[in-house]
Amino acid sequence: MMRPIQMVDLQSQYENIKHEVDEAVFSVIRSARFILGPDVRQFEEELMQYTGAKNVIACANGTDALKIALIALELKPGDEIIAPTFTFISTAEVAALLGLKVVFADSLYDTFNIDPASIRKAITRKTKAIIPVHLYGQCAAMDEIMKIAKENKIFVIEDNAQAIGAEYFFKNGTGKKAGTIGDAGTTSFFPSKNLGAYGDGGAIFTDNSRLAEKLRMIANHGQKKRYFYDAIGLNSRLDTLQAAILRVKLKKLDGYITARRKAADYYDKAFSGLKNVVIPYRQAQSTHVFHQYTLKVIGGSRDGLMEHLQKNNIPSMLYYPMPLHLQRAFRGNRWKRGDFPVAEKLAKQIISLPMHTELDEEQLEYITKKAVEYFG
Ligand SMILES: Cc1ncc(COP(=O)(O)O)c(C=O)c1O
Repeated sequence: MMRPIQMVDLQSQYENIKHEVDEAVFSVIRSARFILGPDVRQFEEELMQYTGAKNVIACANGTDALKIALIALELKPGDEIIAPTFTFISTAEVAALLGLKVVFADSLYDTFNIDPASIRKAITRKTKAIIPVHLYGQCAAMDEIMKIAKENKIFVIEDNAQAIGAEYFFKNGTGKKAGTIGDAGTTSFFPSKNLGAYGDGGAIFTDNSRLAEKLRMIANHGQKKRYFYDAIGLNSRLDTLQAAILRVKLKKLDGYITARRKAADYYDKAFSGLKNVVIPYRQAQSTHVFHQYTLKVIGGSRDGLMEHLQKNNIPSMLYYPMPLHLQRAFRGNRWKRGDFPVAEKLAKQIISLPMHTELDEEQLEYITKKAVEYFG
């Protein structure tokens, strides 16, 4: 019998790595080094090797990673940051909490990522940082974004929660891992992420060692030496238990990415001939790690497709149903419908299909058959 189809199947994944994970977890429990135990630093080192970042600072979650980065860059109330409106809430949320002004930018229709032309329009004398998000697992247009940042002397913080392991190829031929291109990069180890913990987790990457020191201090109550506080910080550490699990899973990340790409290739093949469906665009400048497999359904039948899949026990999700500039949380700002037409259009057209490391051929065949059937 076919295994039930889920957006993410962490149970099946665990079954395949149970032995290693259990051993890692119990070894932390036996050691009782729950806070900043040796696995945390070892995981940071291994992540440095994997990404090529000169420094990695683990923290409690991807939202805190963004917050810590903004604090460490000494952004002050009233400073402006530019972020895409078509993304998860974290970026805008932490900036608003810190009293910064979030200035939204529109997205590119093809890649779903922030549009450099829209960034240029959003820049003012108060702009201090751009926060591109590598949405769904593919890098934003980093050549252009880094150029804009350099011209305007502003920071770039990459929100790499969805694209760990992706590689960006610059126009000059060199390549770099997502999250290691800007002044800092952040990521999330939320369980469903490509590198997911069994609870919350996050990390910050930077090649700037002075910044790294500050980030580490802020993540741990602003202290370098215990009970001596050099700055206002927060309690945002990665649990040793999570670090131990992540060390097991980091070794498998490239294999997991390959499994996701295989599923994406299967979907692409099944959907590429459909008239009302646009398969994910794969750009030459970036590899795609398929955190999500997101179709665009044109002609207004997206909700119908979702319903049809649901009736056939196939889950699907809308990442994201409403751009941030239209959310009630930002109603005090001046944004209105029509301000970011591409993002608004994407929100109406997108649908993400089940995507994880354990999708088998039988499931993929069933999902694609049912989806294709809907379009007749
Ligand atoms: C683009 C993006 N940024 C930030 C986050 C926040 O990460 P976390 O849930 O670990 O706080 C997420 C995911 O949850 C995300 O997808």
